[in-house]
Amino acid sequence: MARILITSAIPYINGIKHLGNLIGSQLPADLFARYQRGRGNEVMFLCATDEHGTPAELAAAKAGKPVAEYCAEMHEVQADIAKRFGLSFDHFGRSSSPQNHKLTQHFAGKLAEAGLIREVTEKQVYSNADGRFLPDRYIEGTCPNCGYEKARGDQCENCTKQLDPTDLIDPRSAISGSTDLEVRETKHLYLRQSAMKDQLDAWIDSKTDWPVLTTSIAKKWLHDGDGLQDRGITRDLDWGIPVKKGDEDWPGMEGKVFYVWFDAPIEYMACAKEWADAHGKPDAEWERWWRTDKGADDVRYVQFMGKDNVPFHTLSFPATILGSGEPWKLVDHLKSFNYLNYDGGQFSTSQGRGVFMDQALDILPADYWRWWLLSHAPESSDSEFTWENFQQSVNKDLADVLGNFVSRITKFCRSKFGEEVPAGGAYGEREQALIEELTKRIRAYEAHMEAMEVRKSAQELRAIWVAGNEYLQATAPWSTFKEDPEQAAAQVRLGLNLIRLYAVLSAPFIPETSARMLSAMNTLDTSWPEDVDAALSALPAGHAFTVPDVLFAKITDEQREDWQTRFAGVRS
Ligand code: MF3
Ligand code: ZN
Repeated sequence: MARILITSAIPYINGIKHLGNLIGSQLPADLFARYQRGRGNEVMFLCATDEHGTPAELAAAKAGKPVAEYCAEMHEVQADIAKRFGLSFDHFGRSSSPQNHKLTQHFAGKLAEAGLIREVTEKQVYSNADGRFLPDRYIEGTCPNCGYEKARGDQCENCTKQLDPTDLIDPRSAISGSTDLEVRETKHLYLRQSAMKDQLDAWIDSKTDWPVLTTSIAKKWLHDGDGLQDRGITRDLDWGIPVKKGDEDWPGMEGKVFYVWFDAPIEYMACAKEWADAHGKPDAEWERWWRTDKGADDVRYVQFMGKDNVPFHTLSFPATILGSGEPWKLVDHLKSFNYLNYDGGQFSTSQGRGVFMDQALDILPADYWRWWLLSHAPESSDSEFTWENFQQSVNKDLADVLGNFVSRITKFCRSKFGEEVPAGGAYGEREQALIEELTKRIRAYEAHMEAMEVRKSAQELRAIWVAGNEYLQATAPWSTFKEDPEQAAAQVRLGLNLIRLYAVLSAPFIPETSARMLSAMNTLDTSWPEDVDAALSALPAGHAFTVPDVLFAKITDEQREDWQTRFAGVRS
């Protein structure tokens, strides 16, 4: 039994995620986790909410709530939606947890001990009225380029020009509106990534099985221009993890917190501790996943993320781990995704454009979305969601191919043999040919899943469903029945067994439907079809079953048009 550690990039706390976010990391990670569990491997699948930084503070302010309260509420909202989408995390943690506070401070202490942190004095805008330093985006003023009056200190929204806060005309605090601002000196910590360049370079070179797309991003940051730059890891914010060296205060760092991108990936580990604590397990239980000196040397660690997250996961986070000098588990395989676009444009959280996870579940069950998203995962390039394409995929793949197969065979059996698996004779030539084809296809499916080739896996699964339909079409038990009821019975027996087999194979993609198929087949046998012949005899003659309700309803043109209009604008 292999042990597989899986993490999905942790979603920002501010707001419900859209379908583009979902297919960029959490959903494919879930596919992989479910598959590996289905194969009998031991899996630890972790995700969390990413709760610090200015976006969290701003969203809380907008909601008119204290930030801690806002985060606690949004965490529950996201956890609930994740559950309804069938995301099977072993733990859904919070980067603001006490466990992450402690571990982040621990790492900072270790990095300081190793001489990998330097202190830098910088000039920054201070607001007397607010009694705090203001991050660039907390400063508003008139754009020197276009005259827009609500330009932010980092960028003008109107003309998109990148700005420095000092460029703004009549600058004011975005928090209080106060113009009583001054430039003050403040001290920050920098992680000396430049000192670790060779070590990181060698580590990346050892990843010979990584896609070039991934390693080239890392190489670019390592070598382009002046090479890898040191990175600021502290901020002047209230909300975040207080800057400490382990348990000790850090002189000169009072009132400052770590930068969100420093503590977020550390949550991958802290999340495992949260899991252990939540279940009353000793530290050894989570450390065997994360510490190579405590059993994690035989763990395979796979990360899932969108392409914009790759630099952090190939450089900054490994720099934190390697720099600590402690034996933490480093990533073995990193699976990254391009972007999913929405109907001719981009999904956008800030603009509320596209379909968001809660809205998606309001109109259709999770499996419809899971199937479309996974079978159209933006792997080799960006991909696009259109309502036509969605309708077509659901109606063809799910309703016509899989749903129809299940309904036909169960209803036919009920009408001729009753609601139990009929006996009939042994499987003949046609059945042997099908078994051979399925064996080939299932082995291909396994290889694609193992390689995390999401689209190819979906295509192969679909081909496996199609093979069953074609078998049914060719053997036509409803005709056979007239001359040879014995043979028809054997064909039906095979068909019913195929339903169980499909349920097992399809569970990573469409878990709810798979569960319904298994329950209709009245079985708890989810064993993987190592031997297809044997798998097709799992349900013996006389085994009772029931005809399930329609598995997938077709999407009508009317519905499609309705949704198309409803989701054409922006979410309010
Ligand atoms: N919240 C980030 C995003 O959605 C991802 C953080 S991943 C982690 O892009 F590694 F930092 F945890
Ligand atoms: Zn402007």
